[in-house]
Order: sequence, then C-alpha cells, then structure tokens
Amino acid sequence: MESPSSTFGSCVSCDRDYNVELYTTTDSVTMNTLLRSTLRTKARLNLLVFVFPYLDSEFRLCETDLCLWIRLMKHNVSSLAYAAVSRGVQENFLQAPLWSRSNSTESSLKRDDSANEVKSGPGHSMLAPFTAGWQSTDLHPLVIEKSEGSYVYDTNGKKYLDALAGLWATALGGSESRLVDAAVAQLKKLPFYHSFWNRTTVPSLLKKCLWDNSLYLFTAGAGVWDETVELAKELLEIFTARKMAKAFFVNSGSEANDTQVKLVWYYNNALGRPNKKKFIARAKSLPALHQKFDLPAPFVLHTDCPHYWRYHLPGETEEEFSTRLANSLEQLILKEGPETIAAFIAEPVMGAGGVIPPPATYFEKVQAVVKKYDILFIADEVICAFGRLGTMFGCDRYNIKPDLVSLAKALSSAYLPIGAVLVSPEVSEVIHAQSNKLGSFSHGFTYSGHPVACAVAIEALKIYKERNIVDQVSKISQRFQDGIRTFSDSPIIGEIRGVGLILGTEFTDNKSPNDPFPSEWGIGAYFGAQCEKHGMLVRVAGDNIMMSPPYIISPEEVETLISIYGKALKETEKKVQELKSQRK
Ligand SMILES: Cc1ncc(COP(=O)(O)O)c(C=O)c1O
Repeated sequence: MESPSSTFGSCVSCDRDYNVELYTTTDSVTMNTLLRSTLRTKARLNLLVFVFPYLDSEFRLCETDLCLWIRLMKHNVSSLAYAAVSRGVQENFLQAPLWSRSNSTESSLKRDDSANEVKSGPGHSMLAPFTAGWQSTDLHPLVIEKSEGSYVYDTNGKKYLDALAGLWATALGGSESRLVDAAVAQLKKLPFYHSFWNRTTVPSLLKKCLWDNSLYLFTAGAGVWDETVELAKELLEIFTARKMAKAFFVNSGSEANDTQVKLVWYYNNALGRPNKKKFIARAKSLPALHQKFDLPAPFVLHTDCPHYWRYHLPGETEEEFSTRLANSLEQLILKEGPETIAAFIAEPVMGAGGVIPPPATYFEKVQAVVKKYDILFIADEVICAFGRLGTMFGCDRYNIKPDLVSLAKALSSAYLPIGAVLVSPEVSEVIHAQSNKLGSFSHGFTYSGHPVACAVAIEALKIYKERNIVDQVSKISQRFQDGIRTFSDSPIIGEIRGVGLILGTEFTDNKSPNDPFPSEWGIGAYFGAQCEKHGMLVRVAGDNIMMSPPYIISPEEVETLISIYGKALKETEKKVQELKSQRK
C-alpha cells in the first residue's frame, strides 16, 4: 500500500467537500484492517478513502465493510472511490452502501443520532437481520420505543408515520388495547401449554366471551372449550375462496412456508410419488436472500416474474403477457417432467419483491396449468391476508383456489408471533391417512398454537369482523392509491403500482424499466432518508419504495403520508438533477 496523500473530494449525495487521506491499494485485507483502525483512532479525519483502480470480484470479499462511495473529482481521480467516513460526518451521507444496494439488501438510512451518541457509542451486539456487519458495529440503529395508532416513536421522541405497518404487519396499529387485554388475560390464566399429542389449551378469554353471550363465539360453532381449536375453526370459516379443512399453527410466515415444504413432501410420499418433490416459485431479483446461504435449494425452480411493466414485449397486452407466462410455466414443467413438480407457490400480490400485482388473467391461466399437471397451488398470503388488498384474502381478489395457504403477520396484527397453514380437504385426508399408518403426523413446534398468541389472534379476527375492516380498507385505500398516483408524472418515477393498502414506487429514468439510475446514486435510499427526515418510515430496496400502512390509518394520516411522500419526492428529484449535472 502506498502511504497516504492528502486531498479532498466531494460526496455524490450532498456534494460537500471533504478532506481525505487517499490510499491506492488492491489489497482488500490491508484495506479492511486499516479502515477499521483508522475509523477508531482518527476521530478528526473527515474521510479515509481507498481508490481501487479495478473493482473486480476479489473486492466483493469485503463488501460488508463498505460504507459509502464518494467521487473524487477535484483531483483528477475519476473513478468512484471506496470510502469510509469518520463518525463526525456520517450524517451528511444519506446513501445506502453501494454493494448493499446493488445486492438488493435494505438500505441503511442515516439519522440524527447525536443524543444516542452521548449515551453510548455506536454499534450493538445483535446479529441484526437484513443489516450489514459494519452497520451494526459502526452506526447507531434506529431504536423504536413506543407506538400509538399509525405512529411509532424513537428513543429521541421523534414521531414517524409507520407507512409499512412495521413489516407489513401491524394491521390494527400500535396501540390496540383489546389485543393487549386478550394477551394479559391469557397470560394470567395459562401462559403456556403445547398442542402436541392431541393436547391443547383452554384460554380464559373464551370463557369470558361466553359469559358475555358473545354472538361471535356462538356463530363460530363448536369447540368452545379450546381457543386454539376455535382459532383454527374461525380461520377455516373466514377463508371462503375455497373450502379448507385444517389449520396448522406456526410462529411466523417463514415457518408457514417451511411447513408447506414438509407437508407437500409428506403428501406425495403418502401417494407413492417419491419423485414429485420440486417447487416452482416466481423469479424476482432478491439475490441477497440467497447469496452465500447455498440458496435457492436445488428443489426450487423459478418461473417468470409477472411484472408487466418491466417484462412485457412491445405491443403485448396484459392478457397476452399472462398467456406467455403461463405457457412458459408449462414449458418449465414439461422440461423438468411433471412427475417431479410438487407445488407452485405465489403471493397474490408480490410484496417484498417490489409490490407487483398480477397482470390481468394471470392467476386464471397459471392455475389451469398447475391443475393440468397435478401440482399443488400454495398461496403465500403472509402479507395479503385479512384485508390488505381490500378483500379478506388475496385469493378472494384474484379468484385463486389454493390447496395450501400460508398466513402470519396481520393474523395477530403482529402483537405476538403466530402464523398458520390452511390445508385443503384433499391434502389433509392424505396426511391423516399417512399419519394413521405411521402412528403420528410428526411435525410441530413447541409454540404451535401458543395459547397467548391464539388469544390475541382471535381478538384480532374479532376486531376485523366488528369493524368491517375489509370495507374500511377499501374506502381508505382509494385516496391512498389515488393520492400517491398524482405523482406518477414525476420524471424520476418509472412506475407506481399497488392495490388496497399496499403500494410500490420504482424510480427509473425516462419512465423506462431499462433506464435505472446509477446504483451508486442511491436514489431509493435517498428518498427513504427524506421520508425519515420528515417523519415517515417506508421500505427501501434498491430504487424500489414500498408502503403498506396499518388498516386503521385515518383519512388525515393518509393526507400526511401523501404530503411527506410529495416532499421527499421533490427533494429526490432535485438530487437527481444535481447528480445528472455533475455527470455532464
Ligand atoms: C410473502 C411473505 N412470506 C413469508 C414471509 C416470512 O414471514 P416471517 O418474517 O414472519 O417469517 C414474509 C416476510 O415478510 C413475506 O413477506
């Protein structure tokens, strides 16, 4: 490594000049060591910059240490530089780290952490989900400590409109006392017992409801001695897209989908089809969820992503696009051999993939294909269920008749972890018969049907019914969707898409899916940071912005959401203009 030379550069985000120490190295190990020690010892240094003449795969090794990119323009260094920023100037950067962005992980948005910094240094001891290592060691996390309706508050008392409902989850907002009461009542009576070996629980809330002569419980039917069983029954009753026979309880959406794999394999083994084991999902660029985890697993195949705007051919209508995708799915099945394909899994509206509603006639055509080859249809309703799309389930909206359904999130309005898998009569019959043969259906979790989570979920479902939450979402979502779409003409917006209370914005240049902004500009992250600055939390993935506010969002809060979105958009448009003029 060369010894450093002093110079200065400007941030691609804020265009401020910084004093820097400039090293040229191709040795990523040395760079990482020096970067860390310098960050800790040279508090007054503005920037420590490493310029790599060539960014090739070898430097991906140190991607978790990437902080920011700056452009060294004033000293004839034209390449983008690999840079670390001392703590004193971190707040000037509103960008996500480039590698994180280009790999589609969540961005890290800068915030005013001065109050925290006094109390304790940055970093924490959590192996934090969807977070780069350097973020959890060198930055302050955003610490949320209180919620109230559609708002959350951080430890500095700053209030944010929670435009993502936590993680698409707190349907009833952050202060529904009935859910808290349901949990407390159950905790006092029986905090835990399991559901293995045909044992289960009798939560106290149910008895209270009976004494109250609750119409809800009487209409829900039998099983009044056991709230866990009652929740299963209630779920089967409200899921009307087709008749389902059983509900299996899990603790999360992931456990629901993992359970689907085991159920499907168990089912096909029971039917004597040991080779029918592969799953087909839809492609969408989320490599960060797979990379270096040895995923996707070899039994998972991918068919086309149903994103019309991005992938349709010139002149192709939505219906024609759907036909092409259904044909392509059939080709994949035939190529692999239908006798090897067990299940097709899809969200009614793709959520974290960028909020992608299906194109017209898509599910009709895809269902025909999977049916033809005796392939099970799994509806992942983890985000869409319980009203998000303005229907009780996404399956209702798109006329999907699944064999299996995954549920979680809004099932308890996220107050406690609980999910469920709904199983069709045909599949559950086979599973029952097989379990009789083997002596047991040996799958379950310690907390399957946890009585406290079930008590909260029952209360949440009750509230959805009483408040007619589906109608409520339908009404409020009209203004939400229309209000955000008034920004469709923005020169930096490629597409705004969504239904009900879920909406995605994709930033591109020239209104084209083929003209992304340079990833080092961090446009999505910049927009997210502006929202945060103005008191609103959204989800950022690359240049995609996602929102799914709580179902209880009020008309005034929808106006606030639209207004903050508009302000953040204006600031982001300005930033794009500046970046473009610098490029000239
Ligand atoms: C569609 C979908 N399925 C499954 C999951 C996993 O759910 P969980 O985080 O509860 O494990 C998620 C998480 O956001 C999701 O969006």
